[in-house]
Amino acid sequence: MAPDIRVLYDEATIAERIDALAEEIKGAGRPDLLVIAVLKGSFVFAADLIRAMHHAGLAPEIEFIHLSSYGAGTTSSGEVKILRDVDNDVTGRNVLLVDDILESGRTLAFAKDLMRSRGASTVEVVALLDKPENRVADIHADYRGFECPDKFVIGYGMDMGHAWRQLPYIGYVVQEDEED
Ligand code: IMP
Ligand code: MG
Repeated sequence: MAPDIRVLYDEATIAERIDALAEEIKGAGRPDLLVIAVLKGSFVFAADLIRAMHHAGLAPEIEFIHLSSYGAGTTSSGEVKILRDVDNDVTGRNVLLVDDILESGRTLAFAKDLMRSRGASTVEVVALLDKPENRVADIHADYRGFECPDKFVIGYGMDMGHAWRQLPYIGYVVQEDEED
C-alpha cells in the first residue's frame, strides 16, 4: 500500500526560498565561490540553488563529494566516510558546502573540517533544512532554507530506504497512529 505522504513544503514555496537564499549568498560578497554538493541527498537542491545563484548574478564552480555516516541499523554511529571525493584542489578557495539536512551535524562538521584542513580560505554551509533538536556536533548553517520539524522527511532529493527522491516537494510519511 502506498504510504500517506503529507506535504511540508510545496514546489512554489521551495523555489521562492531558494531564490532568497541565493540573494543572501550573493549579499555575503564572497568572490569565486566553489560550491560543493554533499551527495546524495543534496543533488536536487544544489541543482536549483546554482541556477538561482546564476539569476542572482553569481557564477560558482561546482564540485561533488559523497559522504556517508554509517552504523548499525538506522542510527548514525558518528563516523563519516568519504565514498567519493572532490576532483579538484580547494586550497585558497571560498567553499560553500550544500546539503539537504543539517541534523546531528556530523556530516557537515566532517566536511567543513576536511575542507579547512585542505587549505580552503573560507568554508560556509547552506542547508535546505535545519533540524536543530538533534544536533550533536558544534556546527550551524550559515544559510538555511527552513527550520524543519523533527520528522523524517522525503522528496526533493531526500530518501527513505532509497525511495521517494523524485518527489518535487518535501513531505513526510504520516504514521498510522499519528493525529492529523
Ligand atoms: P547529520 O547532520 O550528520 O545527522 O546528517 C544529516 C544527513 O542525514 C542528511 O544530509 C540526510 O542525508 C540524512 N537525513 C537526516 N534526516 C533525514 C530525513 O528526515 N530524511 C532523509 N534523510 C535524512
Ligand atoms: Mg545528506
